[in-house]
Amino acid sequence: MEKMPYQPVVDEIVSIVPLPAQAPAATDWRTGLPTLTGSLVTLRELRHTDAASLLASLSTEEVTRFISPPPTTVEGFERFIAWTHRQRAAGQYVCFAIVPRGSDEAVGLFQVRALEPGFGTAEWGFAMASEYWGTGAFADGATLTVDFAIEVAGVHRLEARAALRNGRGNGALRKIGAVQEGVLRRSFLCNGEYLDQALWTILDEDWREAKAVWGPNVIVH
Ligand SMILES: CC(C)(COP(=O)(O)OP(=O)(O)OC[C@H]1O[C@@H](n2cnc3c(N)ncnc32)[C@H](O)[C@@H]1OP(=O)(O)O)[C@@H](O)C(=O)NCCC(=O)NCCS
Repeated sequence: MEKMPYQPVVDEIVSIVPLPAQAPAATDWRTGLPTLTGSLVTLRELRHTDAASLLASLSTEEVTRFISPPPTTVEGFERFIAWTHRQRAAGQYVCFAIVPRGSDEAVGLFQVRALEPGFGTAEWGFAMASEYWGTGAFADGATLTVDFAIEVAGVHRLEARAALRNGRGNGALRKIGAVQEGVLRRSFLCNGEYLDQALWTILDEDWREAKAVWGPNVIVH
């Protein structure tokens, strides 16, 4: 969510499209996202009813410190959720809810957006309620998200940007095997100040090589 493309002001003029009533075909994520099951979290499509738990999870000061401000009301999150469905149906973006195993409550998001038609290059972002930080939930969900992006959506190069001051964000990307390619100087307007961001990437070939060595559930290079 740290500079992902959702713009609440623009979205207010667009009508809300309901989710398809039927479960999606497993092969076409554009009609509905598959549910991805890890050892600690499940990733699934956002639901209209996730708005309140997402507001509670993502509106705290520690979560929002280095990301673009998320919606500030339940209604704002409802509009955001409807927007994610439209973007997914258009084949431009996917957003997974992070749901701890044994719960049905969305406590965070993994987002992936295409940087070019066809999803060859893409950017991802993530945020999660601070009570789940340091629990392994991030790495579990990140594995599922990156694997989905590369093996299902066809991403060949997955980028992430993290403000240099965001120690946890950069540490999280490093630990799952992303490569820091450089620093985008003064590239992110955050609380009235332009911050430097690290550019992190994962390539499909590196991902598959790591999987061949470590197995499908381990992503550390
Ligand atoms: C980003 C986020 C999802 C990561 O989840 P998390 O549970 O905090 O991540 P993890 O604890 O698995 O990994 C963070 C790593 O960074 C390390 N870290 C923490 N503070 C750090 C710092 N100041 N400098 C360097 N590394 C740091 C941690 O030790 C950990 O590595 P370890 O597991 O090897 O010890 C979560 O912190 C979050 O939601 N942050 C707010 C939203 C946000 O900033 N999103 C954008 C990220 S680009």
